[in-house]
Amino acid sequence: MDRTTGDEPLQELAAAEACCTRCPLYRFATHVVPGEGPSRARLMFVGEQPGDSEDKAGRPFVGPAGRMFERALADAGVPRGKVFVTNAVKHFKFQQRGKRRMHQRPNAHEIDRCKWWLDQEIAIVAPRVIVALGATAVRSILERPATIASLRGEPHALNDGISLFVTIHPSYLLRIRGEADRAGAYEGFVEDVRRSWRHVA
Ligand code: URA
Repeated sequence: MDRTTGDEPLQELAAAEACCTRCPLYRFATHVVPGEGPSRARLMFVGEQPGDSEDKAGRPFVGPAGRMFERALADAGVPRGKVFVTNAVKHFKFQQRGKRRMHQRPNAHEIDRCKWWLDQEIAIVAPRVIVALGATAVRSILERPATIASLRGEPHALNDGISLFVTIHPSYLLRIRGEADRAGAYEGFVEDVRRSWRHVA
């Protein structure tokens, strides 16, 4: 499903993103992955970058981390169709190891170059609340590094009256080994999502 259908400014932006050469990542990726959701969404989630599945599909959060994210949205009572979902970096960064493409973290230069696109998504959608999922999204939005722990739990005022909430990235949950630890971290994540939704309600 194309969740941007009918939203001309977002479609034009996605077309421009597809031609991006602002950093070298476009050379290796299959697709650019623009943000997706209603152009008047009040809540925007910003992830890190597309993964292997997203790169192939050209859509954000459709792989394992996306399924975890969708489950958390559902458990928090947030309809996915009402939120805008995007990434700090629009192309997949990876290292080829045999047949596998191993995820690599985008560096500060790549994050900063891609902020150009995120800023335009924010300008079009004009959300009331942005949720940064993980450290890369925080680095992009605040334009400086900061820890999740130092910002989590409370809204932070950005320009234009937007409130920023900060939480973990859903892929972190996939890496936690112990079942009890994973369940606790998941509950905390759902509570963060719920809190951000209440803020826009
Ligand atoms: N992780 C992200 O940060 N974004 C995606 O779209 C998928 C996985």
